[in-house]
Amino acid sequence: VEVRDWTGRFAAEAVGVVRPRSVAEVAQALASGYAVTTRGGNTGLVGGAVPATSRPTLMLDTTLLTGMGPVDDRSGQVTVGAGVPLAQVQAHAEAAGWTYGIDLAARDSATIGGTVATNAGGIRVVRYGMTRAQVVGVQAVLADGSVVDEARGLLKDNTGYSLSGLLCGSEGTLGVITAVRLALHRPPRAPSLGVVPVPSLDAALDVVAAVRRTGAELLAAEVVDAASLALLGESVRGWRLFIEVADGGAAEGLGALPDDAEVGLDAAARRRLWAVREGMTELWGRAAAQAGTVVQKYDVSVPMVGLDPFVAHMRGLLGDRVGVFGHVADGNLHLEVVDPDREWDEEVLTLVARAGGSVSAEHGIGVAKRPWLGLTRSAAEIAAMRAIKAALDPRGILNPGVLLDP
Ligand code: FAD
Ligand code: MLT
Ligand code: ZN
Repeated sequence: VEVRDWTGRFAAEAVGVVRPRSVAEVAQALASGYAVTTRGGNTGLVGGAVPATSRPTLMLDTTLLTGMGPVDDRSGQVTVGAGVPLAQVQAHAEAAGWTYGIDLAARDSATIGGTVATNAGGIRVVRYGMTRAQVVGVQAVLADGSVVDEARGLLKDNTGYSLSGLLCGSEGTLGVITAVRLALHRPPRAPSLGVVPVPSLDAALDVVAAVRRTGAELLAAEVVDAASLALLGESVRGWRLFIEVADGGAAEGLGALPDDAEVGLDAAARRRLWAVREGMTELWGRAAAQAGTVVQKYDVSVPMVGLDPFVAHMRGLLGDRVGVFGHVADGNLHLEVVDPDREWDEEVLTLVARAGGSVSAEHGIGVAKRPWLGLTRSAAEIAAMRAIKAALDPRGILNPGVLLDP
C-alpha cells in the first residue's frame, strides 16, 4: 500500500496496514519480523509517520485504540487510548467540568498517542506547557513486545528513570504508545480575545507583557505576518497579534488596546477571529500547490530577544518567498517558504542555529529535519539518543530512518 503524509511531501510503500485493538495485538505486530511505522491521525508535518527505510515495513495504525476512562474528579486525571482524537479528549474533559491543556488546529484528527509521540505544542503552551507537561504516565509496547505501564495515575513516583518522559517526543522510535494518563486543569474563566495590529514582534511581546502585568490569566499569544494575511486578500503592514485572556469575557483583562484592535468576546466572534490564525497551515499549503510545489515548513524557536532580527534575516534571505506566523510568547515561529525552484533547509536552519535556536520547536524531527539535528543538538546528546535507541530497540524495527540516521 502507498502511504502519504498530510503535507503530500512524503510518500512510501508499506507491506500492509494493521489496526490493533489491544496491547496484545500491538505486541503481535511488533513480532511480525517487519519494521513498524506507527501512525495516529497522520497530521504530523515532518514525515514521521511514513516508512523511511528500504526495509519491508508494516504500518501500525492506532486509531482503533479508542478506550477512554472516566475523569477522576479527585485527581483531575483521565486515561485515554492512544488513538483517541484530541478533540474527543477535550470534549470528554469539558463534559466532566475540566479542561485539557493542549489545543491545536488539527484537533479533530490528531490523536493523543501522536501528540505525545511528538510532544505537540499548539496555542495553549503559554498557559499549560507542552504535551509532556500534561502526561502523568504512558503505557507502551516496546520493540521486544514487553509492556511498560506508567499510566497508573501516580502523580509522584521517583523510582528511577521516567520511561514516559522518554516516550514523549520519541516519534515512534522507542515504543508504540497504547494509552496515556493525562492531567487535566480546572477550566479557566470565560475568555476575551484581542486581535491587535503591531509593527514588530517586540511590540507584540510588549503587549503580552502589559497584559500579564494586569494579573490576567494569559491563555494564548499568537502572531501572523502581512505576507500570510495577504493570502487572505488583506493588505496590512507589520503583524497581527491574537491575544486571549481568561478574564470573565468582558475584555478588561486585555487592558487598553489601540483603536484599530478587534475584540471577540462571545464564542462565535472568537471562533471567527481565531479562524484566520488557525487556517494558516492549509492556506500556505494551498499557496504552494498553486505555485506547483509543496510548502517548505520551518518550525523553529529562537531566543525571544532575537525574534525581530531573526525575521529580518529570513526576509533578507528569502524575500517574498517567506511568510511567518506562530507562537510569539513561546519564541516559536513557523516559516513557510514557497519556492518551486529550490530548497532552503541549509541556509534557514544554519541561521536558526547561529541565532541560538532549535531546528524544531514543536513538530519534531521526522525525516524532514533529520539531516539537521546536529545543528542544534550536540554530538554528546545525539550519542546518548543513539545509545537509548540501541538499548530499547536493538533490531532497529521501530520507525527506522525517523529522527536518527539508521
Ligand atoms: P501522526 O502524524 O500519525 O504521527 C506523528 C509521529 O508520531 C510519527 O513519528 C508517528 O510514528 C508517531 N506516533 C503517532 N502515534 C504514535 C503512537 N501511538 N506511539 C508511538 N508513536 C506514535 N503540531 C504542534 O505541535 N502544534 C500545532 O499547533 C500544530 N498545528 C497543526 C495544525 C494542522 C492543520 C496540522 C495538519 C498539523 C498541526 N500540527 C501541530 C502537527 C500535528 O498535528 C502534531 O504533530 C500531532 O501531534 C500529530 O498527531 P497525529 O496523531 O496526527 O500523529
Ligand atoms: C501551527 O502553529 O499552526 C502549527 O504548528 C501548524 C503549522 O506550523 O503549520
Ligand atoms: Zn505551531
